[in-house]
Amino acid sequence: FENEQTAFTHRREGTLDEFHDRYESAVERVRDDLGESHPLVIDGAAVERDERFSVESPGETDLLVGEFASGDEGDVDRAVAAATDAFDEWRHTHWRDRAAIFREAAERARDRRYELAAVLTLEAGKNRFEAVADVDEGIDFLRFYARELERNEGYRLDTGEPTPGQRCRNVLEPYGVFGVVGPFNFPFAIFVGMTTGALITGNTVVAKPASATPLIAHEAVSILSDAGVPDGALNLVTGGGRTVGEPLVGHEDVSGVAFTGSRAVGREIERSFVEREKPGPVIAELGGKNPVTVTAEADLEKAVEGVRYGAFGFGGQKCSATSRVYVHEDVADAFTERLVETTEEIPDRAPDDPGAVVAPLVDDDAVERYREVCETAREVGRVLTGGEVVGAVDGAAGRYVRPTVAVDVPHDHDVAREEHFVPFVTIHPVGGLDEGIRKSNDSEYGLCAGLFSEDDAEIETWLDRIESGMCYVNRSQSATTGALVQAQPFGGWKASGTTSKFAGGYWYLPQFMREQTRTVVG
Ligand code: NAD
Ligand code: ALA
Repeated sequence: FENEQTAFTHRREGTLDEFHDRYESAVERVRDDLGESHPLVIDGAAVERDERFSVESPGETDLLVGEFASGDEGDVDRAVAAATDAFDEWRHTHWRDRAAIFREAAERARDRRYELAAVLTLEAGKNRFEAVADVDEGIDFLRFYARELERNEGYRLDTGEPTPGQRCRNVLEPYGVFGVVGPFNFPFAIFVGMTTGALITGNTVVAKPASATPLIAHEAVSILSDAGVPDGALNLVTGGGRTVGEPLVGHEDVSGVAFTGSRAVGREIERSFVEREKPGPVIAELGGKNPVTVTAEADLEKAVEGVRYGAFGFGGQKCSATSRVYVHEDVADAFTERLVETTEEIPDRAPDDPGAVVAPLVDDDAVERYREVCETAREVGRVLTGGEVVGAVDGAAGRYVRPTVAVDVPHDHDVAREEHFVPFVTIHPVGGLDEGIRKSNDSEYGLCAGLFSEDDAEIETWLDRIESGMCYVNRSQSATTGALVQAQPFGGWKASGTTSKFAGGYWYLPQFMREQTRTVVG
């Protein structure tokens, strides 16, 4: 499988200057079109609502991204009814034809890469590299899941003739209507990935994007529809978590849920689904509190670079973000000093600036969370750099904060245990690898973990004992973030997910189907 993300990294498409030109002219075009009003999409029709919510750009809060219809329970009912009606025809569409639609969608997304990336910059605050990576990951999901459906021949197997005349088949069949609820932080890749997982396997979908990122969801839905997903098979209801998300995942005609978001909401959905008359799959990918261990055998420059990017890329707003570091006491001072130094070099830049490294925070709640965690870190430990709300960059008001490094925070304090989803990392000196592993594992979460060590025995020990879905060793470009579809299937252990099957991996699609054994005699 050839990743679009890797192809981009190798810049096969042109020079870096061409990349910048294409992206910058896309930002100009998209900026001119912002501020419009957007409907719900039910059964292929635009459904206007008097009640709307507005989205402002995180990096430029005076810039209105758009106004979006606020759906309600009645809209969820209508969308679920449309998806129910569309199910029979869609599930009987040959798997080869379904796969072809998603391949076509991948090409359409690729043709619009820079425009989609520009939407991600203006709506979510992603810098150009993060934005293009998000689009490319979405393209990879589209192509990879199409390839998996084809490679498994629609998940239909002849299982033999156990006795003469008895012909057996084992098939995977879709459930019905899936509720797809997405997060704000990979609003193209993850939204497209979950929606594709449900649809390509023959289910129909009612999708609810995060309230902060409905515009890119509209773009994704129109790409899928233009590629051939029929009316009613994919419906989009924008609105709040309580007003749209909750009635959707609790709807009695919804057979399964694909959710990516916080642990609290994911667990609530899982519990309510288990209690239903008709339980179904809840494929929930949740948060992380991702540890990195740096041993005395580490290359410290690699470790510093990896932690800096892992902790602060997209302003720490990644489930995979590095958030606690266990560093051998012999090298702790050198590591911390260098990390602080390079963190201080990170400039305050608007997301569409070529030098942007971190990102403005998504909403005012996130800024408040940042303030609180920094304040508590000062009370229970020390903040070595950061801890400030910057507020405005280049004259434009935005939700900018400084990347923050804290020390002396007790390992068992909430500051070092809870996911904060802001650019904030704690450093903890440890006596050795054993303590690093023990403390890394001493968490409810188990999403991503990193190790920096040049010693083969240490690497083997760590890989053998670390409790994490994603395990990365010596990854200097980013200690814990940036998984690639297919090569690095992405998912969590423990409280980081309800599914043991990973996104972008070989066992992802079967979760959207149920097994059926067919025996025909004669
Ligand atoms: P969130 O849980 O606040 O919201 C996720 C979605 O759920 C949104 O669309 C929201 O409107 C909706 N929602 C809120 N309350 C709901 C309810 N009661 N019922 C149904 N839906 C409801 O998460 P977020 O802030 O958008 O995203 C950040 C979180 O997502 C972090 O915890 C992050 O770790 C996690 N995440 C996990 C992964 C992964 O692959 N494991 C990837 C990305 C993000
Ligand atoms: N897939 C994203 C990453 O690996 C969440 O950072």
